[in-house]
Order: sequence, then C-alpha cells, then structure tokens
Amino acid sequence: MIELCGKILIGYIALKICLQLFHLFYVYVLGSCPNLKRYGDWSVVTGATDGIGRAFAENLAKKGQNIVLISRNPEKLKNVAADIESKYKVETRIIQADFSSSDIYENIEKELSGLDIGLLVNNVGISYDFPEELMSVSGLTSFMKSTMAINVTSVLGMTEVVMPAMLKKRKGIILNVSSAAALQPTPLLTIYSASKLFVDCFSQALGFEYSKRGITIQTVMPFYVTTKLSKIRKSSFFVPTPESYVASTLKTIGRSRRTFGCLSHALQAMFMSLAPEYIRMYVAAKMNYSVRAYALKKRAKAAKTS
Ligand SMILES: NC(=O)c1ccc[n+]([C@@H]2O[C@H](COP(=O)([O-])OP(=O)(O)OC[C@H]3O[C@@H](n4cnc5c(N)ncnc54)[C@H](OP(=O)(O)O)[C@@H]3O)[C@@H](O)[C@H]2O)c1
Repeated sequence: MIELCGKILIGYIALKICLQLFHLFYVYVLGSCPNLKRYGDWSVVTGATDGIGRAFAENLAKKGQNIVLISRNPEKLKNVAADIESKYKVETRIIQADFSSSDIYENIEKELSGLDIGLLVNNVGISYDFPEELMSVSGLTSFMKSTMAINVTSVLGMTEVVMPAMLKKRKGIILNVSSAAALQPTPLLTIYSASKLFVDCFSQALGFEYSKRGITIQTVMPFYVTTKLSKIRKSSFFVPTPESYVASTLKTIGRSRRTFGCLSHALQAMFMSLAPEYIRMYVAAKMNYSVRAYALKKRAKAAKTS
C-alpha cells in the first residue's frame, strides 16, 4: 500500500513537472511580441525614468511605439524622452506625476486624451530600503500610505483612465508589474509583498473579465532584476538587466495571465512551487533577516565614519 502511494505521488509530481515544463516552453521559448501597432500608436509607462519602466519605454519605442512617460522627476523625464526620440525616431510625451498623491489622475486623463493608446504598463512601485519587521520600519505611517498609493492605487487609477477607450475599440494590452515577493507572504517585506499580491490578484481577475472584449491584461512577476530598487548591480542568468528582462517579457504578451517575464525567473517560480508555502516563507524570512543584518551593519559603519 505504502509502495503504491509512493508511486502515485511520484507520478503526480512527474506529471506536474512535465505540464509546467510544457507551459514554460510555450510561454518563454515559443513566444513573440505581437504587432503592437494593431492595438494603437501609443504606449503609456508609469515609473518610466529608471529600471524596468525605462526598459519598457525603450523596448516599446524600439518596436515603433510612441511613448508617454509618467514619473515624478521633470528633469529625468525630459532627458529620457529626448534620448528615446533621438534613438528610436518616435514621438514621446511626458507627464510629471507623483503617484504617492491621489489627485493626479484627472490631469493624467486630460494629458492622455486624444492619443490612440494600445498598451499601458503599470510599472511604478517602491519597496523597503531594506527588509525590516513592521514596527521597526522608519516613518511607518508615511511608508504604509505611500506604498499603497504607489503600488496599488496607481494600478487602479491608471486602469480606470485608460480602459474605456480600449473597450470602445475592443483592443488593448495592460501589463501590471507585481513581484515574486507576492508568491507567498514574505516576512520583513510584509507591506510590499501584500501590495504586490493585490496587483496580481486584481490583474488576473480583470484579465479574465475582459479577455472576451479584446483586452489582454497580464501580471508581470519579476524575481530580481538589476535596478536601483533591487540594489543589485551585477547581472547573471538569474538576475537579468532590465533591458533583457523586458525584451523577454514582451514576447510573453498574451500567452499567460501571469508571466514571470523570462525563462530563468519562470524556472525559479517552478522550483519554488514544489515546496509548501510554509517552507517558502521560512526561507524568505531567513534570507531577509540576513539582508537586514548586512544593511544595518553597513549603516552603522557609515554612521561611524561620518
Ligand atoms: N528590480 C527588481 O528586482 C524588481 C523585482 C520585482 C518587482 N519589481 C517591480 O518592478 C517595478 C519597477 O521596479 P524597478 O526595480 O525598475 O524600480 P526603480 O529602478 O526604483 O525605478 C522606479 C521608477 O519609478 C519612478 N517612481 C518612483 N516613485 C515614484 C512616484 N512616487 N511617482 C512617480 N514615479 C515614481 C522612479 O522615478 P524617479 O526616478 O523619480 O525615482 C523610477 O522611474 C516596481 O513595481 C517593482 O516593485 C522590481
């Protein structure tokens, strides 16, 4: 009996792995970026002046899309827009908006009116300076408010602004950038991981609602990418640059309601999914406590030398 149960379990795991490998192959190897012109002439990217957002803006411009860049720093916006126009010979518009504030959407709607928008990337997001237990986060009240406004409300607000026109023409693409930190509750990044779980859940459910009305809505779930936010500078197979990560992500559009963007991140997710949630939480906590210890040590050293 025990032997039979063992065989059934092994068979079940083997079948699960085979199906997942087939899915990986379909999404991350066979995929190609759709013809974006078919959806509209303009793409809108939030948090477009750095990291993954800037890489989206550049990659989409490379595909001939005109780009609306939305971020909070006017100087950086002007520089990135000028760079994109000269490199890719497309049009750009910039909108200065701080997503920590709630009264920006009326102006964004006004600025976007009249543009034929085919694609929206809800990318803007912030995280902790370093992993920390909730009550020890410095400026907790303000951090909670801004994380919810920037990571969560921005996705809702921008969706409400852009979707009506997409529905009217019965075509459009919305990519919502979540995080692998939402794959399980992540200790020491509690607010961040919960905010990104909201994005994933909202995005997938909305994608289901509107798939029959011509709108593709997809969660993008990166693991580590070399950006200011991750504080990782050196790229590797498992930690791509924003440019290569986004180039790969665009090829997965429409192939799955949730994309990990690139094969190496999808493989990480697949192996993680084999472990029970409690183990994943334990490992994440272990890692985050050691990152926290390192950050605190670095901070103490800097305080001593200044
Ligand atoms: N990098 C990773 O390893 C990783 C992993 C998982 C998920 N993600 C997600 O990917 C997304 C992009 O992350 P990233 O690593 O590219 O971040 P990043 O390098 O820090 O870039 C963030 C961008 O958002 C803008 N921004 C920040 N706060 C803003 C605000 N209040 N209002 C308007 N714009 C604001 C920044 O503009 P300024 O230049 O003005 O600051 C910048 O253009 C986020 O949603 C993040 O959670 C990243």
